[in-house]
Amino acid sequence: MSVPPASPPRLGVNIDHVATIRNARGGAHPDPLAAAELAIASGADGITIHLREDRRHIRDADVRRIRAAIARPLNLEMAATAEMERIALETLPHACCIVPEKRTEVTTEGGLDVAGQQAALRPIVASLAAAGIRVSLFIDPDPRQLRASADIGAAVVELHTGAYAEGKEGEFARLREAARMTTALGLECHAGHGLTYDNVGPVAALAEVMELNIGHFLIGQAIFDGLPAVIARMRALIAAARQGTSPS
Ligand code: PXP
Repeated sequence: MSVPPASPPRLGVNIDHVATIRNARGGAHPDPLAAAELAIASGADGITIHLREDRRHIRDADVRRIRAAIARPLNLEMAATAEMERIALETLPHACCIVPEKRTEVTTEGGLDVAGQQAALRPIVASLAAAGIRVSLFIDPDPRQLRASADIGAAVVELHTGAYAEGKEGEFARLREAARMTTALGLECHAGHGLTYDNVGPVAALAEVMELNIGHFLIGQAIFDGLPAVIARMRALIAAARQGTSPS
């Protein structure tokens, strides 16, 4: 009997940078909701948005409109603040990914220090989970952070792939070990940050990884090829990597 091909990880398309372009001119175009709908029609398994404290891209009204309109799961990335907790509890996205946030950073530079902030994070994880939201913690591929994530009751960890994407030596091995450990701890494993056509394969091939969240590269490449083609290509690369075949 032939073994069925491994099902590929879900692709969450992060549309923050559609809002970045919109905000550059202060108007309503391009509309992140239209991008979310097109991404879903083009094969995205879910939509990811990051409501940053400074609202530099996604804004409060975007969260409400996208939550109300889309037919696939919404993953809201947010800092662990009382304001963000309130917004999440009001809008009830499918999932919340708690990320560290510094006002001056260009992007989310490193993972959350769960081990150092257990007391602060535990209540917010519990309150979001009690509202039926799947809570994920964005962490570096570090066994200490993984154990702390399990200890405070997270359902999911998203492994920060930024250092791997920058080509730092030994980072893929760290990711592989961390992915294995998530399953052993009973957590669901997601991954993301800095993923592109060129580096997604090895991460997508990790059997434990159930979801990839990809934004900047997809939106940037869509300028040249269009969002449907870019999502189709990324999905093909992810599926081929998981199945150990060459993309068609
Ligand atoms: N996952 C998380 C938790 C993030 O904060 C980001 C960046 O907003 C991403 C994934 C996507 O990263 P990129 O835009 O580099 O694909």
